[in-house]
Amino acid sequence: MDNQRATWGSNFGFLMAAIGSAVGLGNIWGFPYKMGNSGGFAFLVVYLVLAAVVGFTVLLCELSLGRRARKGCIGAYHRLASRKFAWVGWLGGLSAFIIMSFYTVLGAYCLKYMVVNFGDILGLSFGANGTDGGKIFGGLLTSQLESWVYTLVFVAATGAIIMGGIDAGIERFNKYAMPLLFVMLLIIIARSVTLEGAEKGLAFMFQPNWEPLKNNFLGVLATASGQMFFSLSLGMAIMVTYGSYLPKSDNIERDAAVIVISDTVIAILAGVAVLPAAFALGGENAALAGPKLLYITLQNVFNAMGSIGPWIGFLFYTLVVIAALSSLISLMETTVTFIIDSHEARQAIHNRKRITFWVCVAVMAEATIVALDGLGSNGLWVPGQSLFGVHTWNDCWLDFMDAWSEGFMMPLGAFLTCLFVGYELKIGTLADEIEQDGIKFRSKKFVEICLKYIAPVILLFVLYNQLKDFGLI
Ligand code: PHE
Repeated sequence: MDNQRATWGSNFGFLMAAIGSAVGLGNIWGFPYKMGNSGGFAFLVVYLVLAAVVGFTVLLCELSLGRRARKGCIGAYHRLASRKFAWVGWLGGLSAFIIMSFYTVLGAYCLKYMVVNFGDILGLSFGANGTDGGKIFGGLLTSQLESWVYTLVFVAATGAIIMGGIDAGIERFNKYAMPLLFVMLLIIIARSVTLEGAEKGLAFMFQPNWEPLKNNFLGVLATASGQMFFSLSLGMAIMVTYGSYLPKSDNIERDAAVIVISDTVIAILAGVAVLPAAFALGGENAALAGPKLLYITLQNVFNAMGSIGPWIGFLFYTLVVIAALSSLISLMETTVTFIIDSHEARQAIHNRKRITFWVCVAVMAEATIVALDGLGSNGLWVPGQSLFGVHTWNDCWLDFMDAWSEGFMMPLGAFLTCLFVGYELKIGTLADEIEQDGIKFRSKKFVEICLKYIAPVILLFVLYNQLKDFGLI
């Protein structure tokens, strides 16, 4: 059976798909706004250290586990781990599935903004026509049917690509989409940094300022580490799944380095695209406005850009849609791979297209709740919102889904993965998987120390903070 497993068509194609998974809303939205809120330059430095030490190590483990087992996440842990850890794959698999409930809707909102800016280019009535970003967003949240239809389009597009398979679908899409995304980002940067007043944004990002670390070191560390995990798609079964389609001749250590560096560079570039423009046209407060950045602040920035605004806006939201789509592809593929693996284990006949179709139906079912809820705008009942009339921790369905997946299962899964690879499989097995075809595992000592001592501590800290942030403890 193993011999029949599909593989990526080329190393470049695999890298584009993995980078496509990593680069998403987390980079283009989360990174700039978290950097804006949590100390600019200081946040950047902490983030870089974490990505190099913890991100690289965990990514390397996940890719190796997948390739060694030749199974998606759930199957991989079953095959490689003792009873103690065999269930850990479920944490990642389930968390990927739950994340889809809101990632689809957030991507769908970007699709709407793409259309709005396109309307402005053509001067048609469905454009923003100068309407305030807050108004557009408020309107979208309460138009349940509209939100749902955009979500459906987004899910259907993802399903169509996945139906093509690993190389002819996922790889082919990313091979073109990722370089395109990069070029679009450069064009937007060129406009953003040449705006009058843009220097303030650049200074905020790159001028050394250690004050935030002195005042709130743990706060910056918590935000940066949570962001780094989400941004690299770790702890969510994804890199195990993508790794399971890698040929043995591939140098996973180099791949992991390329993925971490690319994801980080794109997050920083997204900051350069967004923050100077927000400082220049929206004022400092707008730049530091937090999660509103993507759907409210930036639309106002495009509105204020004059005649080129709709073009830049359209380009920007197209870029975000591509980034979100390539991430959603990886999330959905983990579920599809899981079902294919279970068919193979039973030696049952399976059909990727049919499986994908049913996964899309399931994802639509959970996404429908989040879309109709409109971030709590439409008065839907939300679990955990109130207990005997007392307000508790969830304000909306998105928060609820996010708390369980990103807040709880993801850091716990990544923490247990470190323990499992570091103490049960041990570095020797990892080296055995990486050192094939004469490839040398150069960072072996470094990875061993990170894996056994540094990453688990940081992950426990992330877990604790996420639970606190989401109000679970
Ligand atoms: N890494 C993606 C981002 O930065 C999001 C993502 C998370 C994708 C988890 C897949 C799994 O937006």
